[in-house]
This record gives sequence, C-alpha cells and structure tokens, in this order.
Amino acid sequence: MMNVLITGAGTGLGKSLALQYGKNGNHVYLIGRRLEPLEEVVQSIKSAGGHATPLTCDITDFDEVEQKINSVVQNTPIDLLINNAGTGIFGPLNTYRSDDIDQMFATNVKGTIHMTRAILPTLVEQGNGQVMNIISTAGLRGKKNESVYVASKFAVRGFTESLIKELEGTAIKMTAVYMGGMDTPFWDETDHIDDRSRLKSPDEVAQLIVEQNSGQAEIFIDR
Ligand SMILES: NC(=O)c1ccc[n+]([C@@H]2O[C@H](COP(=O)([O-])OP(=O)(O)OC[C@H]3O[C@@H](n4cnc5c(N)ncnc54)[C@H](OP(=O)(O)O)[C@@H]3O)[C@@H](O)[C@H]2O)c1
Repeated sequence: MMNVLITGAGTGLGKSLALQYGKNGNHVYLIGRRLEPLEEVVQSIKSAGGHATPLTCDITDFDEVEQKINSVVQNTPIDLLINNAGTGIFGPLNTYRSDDIDQMFATNVKGTIHMTRAILPTLVEQGNGQVMNIISTAGLRGKKNESVYVASKFAVRGFTESLIKELEGTAIKMTAVYMGGMDTPFWDETDHIDDRSRLKSPDEVAQLIVEQNSGQAEIFIDR
C-alpha cells in the first residue's frame, strides 16, 4: 500500500496515472487548480474500491505548495510524488508573449521545483520515497516551434539529474520519464499537432510507466 501524490491529476496523463495508482489499496492525493475534474477522478477511484483525496493547489505558488503539502505530510508518509502538471504553448519564437514564456516556466519548471522542495524533507526524514518527473521527448532534443516548451523540459531534466547526484547514498529515488505525444487536453488550444489520432492514449502510457517503474533514474516510453 502506497501514498501517492500526483499533480495535474484531473485530466490527461495525470488522471490516467491516478486511476492506475488508485488500484491495489494505494491512497492517491490528486492535485490541480480546478476541484471539479479532481473530484470526478476521485469518484472513479472510490467507485472501484480505492482511496483518493482531491487537493486544490496552484503549483506555481511557492507558499501555497508549502502549506498544502505540509497539511498532507503531517499525518501521512509519502511513498511517491509524481510531478506531472505541465503546459505547452507552441509556435515560432517571435509569436510568444511574455505571459506565455512565464506560464510555461512557472508551471513546468518552478512548479516541479516547488513540489519537490516541499516534499523532500519528509522523504529524507522517512529515509525512503520517490519523486517521478514527467518530462517528454522535448527534454531530450530540440523541436521546431517548441523552443520555449523544450527549454522548460530540458530544465526539468537538469533539475532531476542534479537531485539524483544530491541524493546519492540515500534510499530516495528520482526518476525522469520521457514520452512522445499523447492525445490529451494538452492539445485543445493549439493546432501544432494536425492529427491527434496518431498519438498514444494517456491510459496506455500510464500503464507502461507503472509497469516499468522500479525506482530507476530514467523511464523511456519513447526516445
Ligand atoms: N500530451 C502530450 O502529448 C505530452 C507529451 C509528452 C509529455 N507531456 C507532459 O505530460 C504532462 C501532462 O500533460 P497532459 O498531456 O496530461 O496535459 P493536460 O491534460 O493539459 O494536463 C495538465 C494538468 O496540469 C494541471 N495544471 C496546469 N497548471 C497547473 C498549476 N499551475 N497548478 C496545478 N496544476 C496545474 C491541469 O489542471 P488545472 O488546469 O485544473 O490546474 C491539468 O490537469 C505535462 O507535463 C506535459 O508536458 C505531454
């Protein structure tokens, strides 16, 4: 039985991961800004006999993350944090507004850092646990019209690889996960992908992640 925290758990890959980890007696804490999608996933997990709790939190807000995570870890040992919440805005570089750049870095990079920073003292005190960072093949190589998104995902990769070194000699695991396109609401606001039917389903990717996860440094769903 594990206690698992997942960011961005109301939709897409985070939802699929929550449904996967919601099996087998685990307790899943689902994090996102909107309560409604989180509650829908919580209901699905509970209907299948599982345990789940919704937790609204804007991961870009350092203080809110500290406060909300502290409220959970006071009473609950944490086995796994999955930093999944992320956002993408696409196009040639000169089309980006300042807000677009800020939003991607605040969510993908700072959100992941805030959550990890908030949970790590608990994992260190426990002497075990895992932080899994959902990156993308955009964390492996540059892509046309994805420059800022790719930059944010390279940053998460660098953060993950650095913490692996920082945590050497402890039983705490850091895992970077790399995957290609998935058919999720991530693509609802953009025409960057013209045929979404070619993309993997988030359920398939979540199942592969859960099956392959053994606390290793990297999981490659796609390269
Ligand atoms: N879809 C793809 O093709 C693809 C490919 C490779 C990697 N990825 C990565 O996979 C991850 C999941 O993406 P997805 O495809 O499942 O997209 P998605 O369905 O759009 O999910 C993103 C989730 O993040 C949450 N979120 C966004 N900003 C947040 C914030 N500030 N605080 C808390 N939660 C926030 C959203 O919920 P709220 O709006 O309610 O907060 C939403 O549930 C992302 O890191 C993405 O970069 C996606």
